[in-house]
Amino acid sequence: MNKKVIIISSTPRKNGNSQILSEAFEKGAKEKGNNVELISLRENKINYCLACYGCSKTKRCIQNDGMNEILDKIVEADVLVLATPIYMYDVCGQLKTFIDRIFPKYTEIKNKEIYFIATCAEDQNEPISYAIQTINGLIECLEDAKLKGVVYGKNLDNIGEAENSKAYNEAYEMGKSI
Ligand SMILES: Cc1cc2nc3c(=O)[nH]c(=O)nc-3n(C[C@H](O)[C@H](O)[C@H](O)COP(=O)(O)O)c2cc1C
Repeated sequence: MNKKVIIISSTPRKNGNSQILSEAFEKGAKEKGNNVELISLRENKINYCLACYGCSKTKRCIQNDGMNEILDKIVEADVLVLATPIYMYDVCGQLKTFIDRIFPKYTEIKNKEIYFIATCAEDQNEPISYAIQTINGLIECLEDAKLKGVVYGKNLDNIGEAENSKAYNEAYEMGKSI
């Protein structure tokens, strides 16, 4: 069955490593006939949550920065892929801000298959393992969301390095496997 897939790429860097791995996932998922959309946060200025709680009643954010449209797409999707560079052993601030802004719709986002892609400079799993805790926090807030796969893009630092990496193939194969 073809699935609706939304990939959120959060790096501020054009052609960043996590963006490249997001595109590898996208390529694999599209080849299998899925309906895939890759959304780059660097092209969508997503503001902080204002904690006004207006969305408790309306289920929409009062800010018109494009997040409401992205949330409508996520509600409809079967698969949500979150991609990030590791900053200080966690997801980058752009992705955390995005996660906070899920608040208006978090009770409507159900039965999602979640994939996580992260890139870091160190040649160890540890920085990404910490970031998975942040993703698990989000999963805890959603009804029947499951973490189905993680790509550990280790030992990647300079822009473009992910192109010829082992992680590139892993992200591509993961996209094909959904
Ligand atoms: C603010 C900042 C913090 C970082 N913190 C870490 C870190 O804690 N551990 C690590 O291995 N790499 C760290 N890095 C390196 C990036 O994770 C690495 O360059 C990654 O490949 C960037 O992905 P991108 O090209 O998709 O932005 C940091 C980079 C920046 C700019």
